[in-house]
Amino acid sequence: MSSDPDTDEAVEADPADEDAGGRVPVLLVRGDREYLVAPGGEQGTDLGVLEVPEDVQPGETIETHLGDAFQVRRLRGPDLFHHFERTGAPMVPRDIGLVIGETGISRGDRVLDTGTGTGVLSASMARAGASVVTYERNPEFAEVARENMELGGVADAVDVRTGDLTEELEELEDESFDVLTLDTGDAASIVAHAPELLVEGGFVAIYSPFIESTREVVETAREAGLSNVRTRETIQREMQFDDRGSRPSTAPVGHTGYLTIARNV
Ligand SMILES: C[S@@+](CC[C@H](N)C(=O)[O-])C[C@H]1O[C@@H](n2cnc3c(N)ncnc32)[C@H](O)[C@@H]1O
Repeated sequence: MSSDPDTDEAVEADPADEDAGGRVPVLLVRGDREYLVAPGGEQGTDLGVLEVPEDVQPGETIETHLGDAFQVRRLRGPDLFHHFERTGAPMVPRDIGLVIGETGISRGDRVLDTGTGTGVLSASMARAGASVVTYERNPEFAEVARENMELGGVADAVDVRTGDLTEELEELEDESFDVLTLDTGDAASIVAHAPELLVEGGFVAIYSPFIESTREVVETAREAGLSNVRTRETIQREMQFDDRGSRPSTAPVGHTGYLTIARNV
């Protein structure tokens, strides 16, 4: 929260403002070339060097030193998936939409997330207004994720902690969270502690690529006393529209995983 210099009244920070989490990068786009660059930064391209002014605004055009123009665009959620440096397999935009939609993550919520991986889910939840504590057991991945949070303009809202959450639970015993999001093979061992980690009425969302770990998660959630435990496969069929007609794509079906949601009531 900052204050309006004219009225001295508190105003909500716009996620696109500098104060919302450092200087929010912009996308520089020309055809299929796309770069995510912070204001004041420099980007080398095969068409020359782009120097991004500190006060760059979406909608403007800037030119490389060789005179080729790039459009400036505001960073949007799905761009994180394409531009973050990748470590642990990032969650796809569709599944992030399901996690946020099913748990209602919104401004002011506290979220505990594990494992950070590339950090796409953490950054997306922060962009939705949540403050996120996320654990990553691989120190190199955690370092990359911190850089990704800077790149996504959400470094102030995402606390990337290096460590294995199963070994750090004691550290969290005085904290409580509105939502717990898990995207790890050992999610069941953390779900067992969900009632102590969540506020009354809080949600846990577990994403598992395999059905064996999903079953383990569901059984553990029931044993832990969580309510409304339900699992859905996340799958989408792409449609094809061409001269011959319209039908679902014959490419492989779009299964990504199983999403289990449960509530602490
Ligand atoms: C599939 S990736 C997570 C991707 C992430 N949701 C995203 O959208 O970018 C899983 C990550 O969890 C980490 N991990 C697995 N078990 C963990 C644990 N118990 N504590 C902390 N990190 C863990 C792995 O090192 C890996 O980087």
